[in-house]
Amino acid sequence: MAANKTLLILPGDGIGPEVMTQVRRIVDWFDRRRAVGFDILEQPVGGAAWDAHGTPLTDEALADAMDADAVLLGAVGGPQYDAVPRDKRPEAGLLRLRKEMDLFANLRPALVFDALVDASTLKREVVEGLDILILRELTAGVYFGEPRGIEVMADGSRRAIDTQSYTEHEIRRIAEVAFDLARKRGNKVHSVEKANVMETGVFWREIVTALHRDRFADVELHHMYADNCAMQLVRQPKQFDVIVTDNLFGDILSDCAAMLTGSLGMLPSASLGPEDGTGRRRALYEPVHGSAPDIAGQDKANPLATILSFAMMLRYSFGLGEDAELVERAVQNALAAGVRTGDIAGPGTTAVSTTRMGDAILEELDRLAV
Ligand code: IPM
Ligand code: MG
Repeated sequence: MAANKTLLILPGDGIGPEVMTQVRRIVDWFDRRRAVGFDILEQPVGGAAWDAHGTPLTDEALADAMDADAVLLGAVGGPQYDAVPRDKRPEAGLLRLRKEMDLFANLRPALVFDALVDASTLKREVVEGLDILILRELTAGVYFGEPRGIEVMADGSRRAIDTQSYTEHEIRRIAEVAFDLARKRGNKVHSVEKANVMETGVFWREIVTALHRDRFADVELHHMYADNCAMQLVRQPKQFDVIVTDNLFGDILSDCAAMLTGSLGMLPSASLGPEDGTGRRRALYEPVHGSAPDIAGQDKANPLATILSFAMMLRYSFGLGEDAELVERAVQNALAAGVRTGDIAGPGTTAVSTTRMGDAILEELDRLAV
């Protein structure tokens, strides 16, 4: 049997720990039933780490993340941390993890499950069968650009500054991932920026166009302004296959794309670093949703986004496409059987607990793996 994979679990805050409990049951199932086994480490992150250690990311947690074969994160943040100094906020821990692990490629697929078509606020014909991928650049742009800060000007009044910056290398490497992924899907890329207003937009378009011409001319490429993309996503989302965009536009557009599917509670994501010489890459998997403090601790949250993030891990970190599909099919079947947490329960269905949703996925896995 192959050596165990090291998996670092960072449950985080709010509903993070309770959805992660369900994922751990699925990891145990894989340990028992499939050829892959996991050695699990766990560390607090975000507010939980601030409470225990006075920092949202300890050096030990970061070191474990750097060494792990993959990292699975729940969610961070909560209103009780609003007054914590900015550089110690739960979000700062997450941003530091992304930066230190060099997780530049953030994959946010938006897939509409047949059973959930009616959970979307959009009309059935607009979203039925939707399968798009937002690829967000995650380690540069205005999230990390310098200078930044709030300063006092000569007249005593203040101003705030953020900097949007992208190097050629940063744009090229995310565009490469976009074209590679598109070749395995619908072979179409929409590159999204604001070249009509921003220098980084003009530059982004230039680099993407040259890369396309030199190495990916077989892929259909479109350029689109970010505001138009937001509009097109709700008007006619099925025109898209892969959308590649910068850190801030990707943050916004991926929330928008998420709601096409009916609930943020369904959306997984993968954040990948560059490949090292041996074909290994650092990777972190997390649901797109936040810590949902309003329902935390009540066994009400939807664990499916985190469970589907684990499926992405099987596919992208361990090359276990069949095992990933097993998890995805278990989710599909449970939904088709009418099992729903509150966020996706429509008229005529009763909401089940987080734990009961976990039970349903395990039952489906047992059924599928006979
Ligand atoms: C996301 C979140 C984060 C971001 C926050 C929690 C810092 O909104 O992953 O989309 O803005 O990147
Ligand atoms: Mg966001």
